[in-house]
Amino acid sequence: MTLPLEEAKKDFVQQKFSSVTPKYDFLNTLLSLYIDHYWRKRAAALLKDQDGPILDICAGTLPLSLEIVRQKRRKVVALDFCFDMLKYGRDRLRNNSAMESILPVCGDGEMLPLPDNTFTGITAAFGVRNLTDLSRGLEEMYRVLKPGGVASILEFSRPSNPVFSRLYRFYLHRILPNLAGMISGDKEAYTYLADSIEGFYSQKQVCTMMKRAGFVNVQYKPLTLGIVTIYSGNRL
Ligand SMILES: C[S@@+](CC[C@H](N)C(=O)[O-])C[C@H]1O[C@@H](n2cnc3c(N)ncnc32)[C@H](O)[C@@H]1O
Repeated sequence: MTLPLEEAKKDFVQQKFSSVTPKYDFLNTLLSLYIDHYWRKRAAALLKDQDGPILDICAGTLPLSLEIVRQKRRKVVALDFCFDMLKYGRDRLRNNSAMESILPVCGDGEMLPLPDNTFTGITAAFGVRNLTDLSRGLEEMYRVLKPGGVASILEFSRPSNPVFSRLYRFYLHRILPNLAGMISGDKEAYTYLADSIEGFYSQKQVCTMMKRAGFVNVQYKPLTLGIVTIYSGNRL
């Protein structure tokens, strides 16, 4: 499929997440064979030394916010522009005491409705790939981080091993959209997932953009044969 551009992409992404909301967590776990939990644990662990408030952008149904609070009790602002995803996550965790530390906020990751120098850590899991303008999103993350604060960004990437890469691509384009489409009732949402992974920046390009946004100590760590990558950096 041809990926939509600019404002059309925002509307499309919002609509697609809204449409798959009730099946989103189940499908994540099924399609990744539960490894998504491990990936979020790794991303959250990079923020473990930060005592102050954390911002989780593109927070969805709050799985990463929950993991951050599980690892260490701190305030987490969980921002997403899809109200349905946030509401579903909040309702699901209604009886979980972690919700006392999590504040869901409906807003745009490229125009954060938040003041400068506020958070000691900022994170996003499987979110930045969906932004219309990644550079703008990274500049916003930098702006709301306190000096010395840490960014930990988890995102899909493309495996570099040629044999594994061919198998993975077959799974991504042939198996995943059909299986997830059948379960969620929205095959297009998962065709978009596959195409957005293929169309996303390389690891080096993401690091260059993070540096341009002002981050220092920028590093990346591929996990699970490069299916995902964790990017990290600090604000000076
Ligand atoms: C793949 S989900 C990730 C959810 C969650 N972080 C997780 O680990 O499962 C991506 C989320 O990013 C949100 N999103 C995409 N673009 C956004 C934007 N510009 N501002 C805020 N949220 C956005 C979507 O609504 C969706 O909930």
